[in-house]
Amino acid sequence: MDAHILFQLPTTVRFGFGVAAGVGDAVRALGGRRALVVTDLGVFAAGLLEGPLAALAAAGIEATVFDGVSGNPRDHECLAAVEAASAFAADIVVAIGGGSPMDAAKTTAALLTNGGSPQDWEAPKPLARDPLPIVAVPTTSGTGSEVTFYAVVTDTARAFKMSLFDTRLAPRIALVDPALTLSMPASVTAATGMDALTHAVEAYTGRLANPIADALAVGAIKLVAQHLPAAVRDGTDRAAREGMMMASLLAGMAFGNTDVAAVHCLAEAIGGRYDTPHGVANSVFLPHVFAFNAEAAPERHAAVAGALGLDVRDRGHAESAMGAVAAIAGLAAEVGIPRFAALAGVDPADFPLLAETAKRNVSDPSNCRELTADDYLALLRSAWAA
Ligand SMILES: [Fe+2]
Repeated sequence: MDAHILFQLPTTVRFGFGVAAGVGDAVRALGGRRALVVTDLGVFAAGLLEGPLAALAAAGIEATVFDGVSGNPRDHECLAAVEAASAFAADIVVAIGGGSPMDAAKTTAALLTNGGSPQDWEAPKPLARDPLPIVAVPTTSGTGSEVTFYAVVTDTARAFKMSLFDTRLAPRIALVDPALTLSMPASVTAATGMDALTHAVEAYTGRLANPIADALAVGAIKLVAQHLPAAVRDGTDRAAREGMMMASLLAGMAFGNTDVAAVHCLAEAIGGRYDTPHGVANSVFLPHVFAFNAEAAPERHAAVAGALGLDVRDRGHAESAMGAVAAIAGLAAEVGIPRFAALAGVDPADFPLLAETAKRNVSDPSNCRELTADDYLALLRSAWAA
């Protein structure tokens, strides 16, 4: 092996039931005194804010809550959060929620020190200055945003999910507490879990794969196969919740150091246009992209089948990969992910435009098989027909 690998993990991670109670200590450790808490109404309604807010107060941290984040965070919501933070003179940002509040928090923390709007810092442009420090407390198990260097925000004028990318966007501390996911609804558990699986599969099969990320990605795939159905069936299953939280974290570490690929290019295209939940959007495309990609990296796609728990002995790579396609589609159906054709608002007349949008995604070059806009169009059509 003669590979040069860059693997970065700037985030201090604490994992386990109850670690979210340490949020006040985490903020203090980073020198924070006045926290902007970025969250959404779902987190508030689930009663998940009270504990962290009490922990901040107990540590002597002043906090103000910004809960105006949508399911797919918008550019103008980040600007409103910046305004709230400035008015409060916040010196630290605490994200409590799923990928949307975390990505909005990361964007807000960046804009507070760099100025401008999210579009001014669109990837691949690096930030000019360090963001405010971020403490991330995920309440879903899928995004991995607590350890990644990305923030994905919808540019409302373009109806386009754009990315900010800089290692300094990584939260300084992540408190990854499966207890916060015990009340997550089954549909959100399913969608976010399929997002985690997609991160792991795209990290492992993508062009930027490396052996460190591979180990994390394979571990994540095994955990999803083992725990996602149980977590969806019974949300109070602590072992399943813990397994999915770990899967999400490992997958985040993996794709944060590699990239996602064509599944995310398609998912972000339809998310930007129709506001489709991100995990659902990934899930409907994952089997189709996997089948398309398999010939470009047969051994890797066969290895995914093994990680999913399929018996791949005495089978060729292509056969194993096709087994994984069926297993992934079967898992999505088992956990209740809707079919692409059943999603609200989706209009096949938009497919040529969506294919162009997917092709423009910054992660398109990371896919193991090169795609044209026509290839994306064919994938949209095959997912629609499934
Ligand atoms: Fe994702």
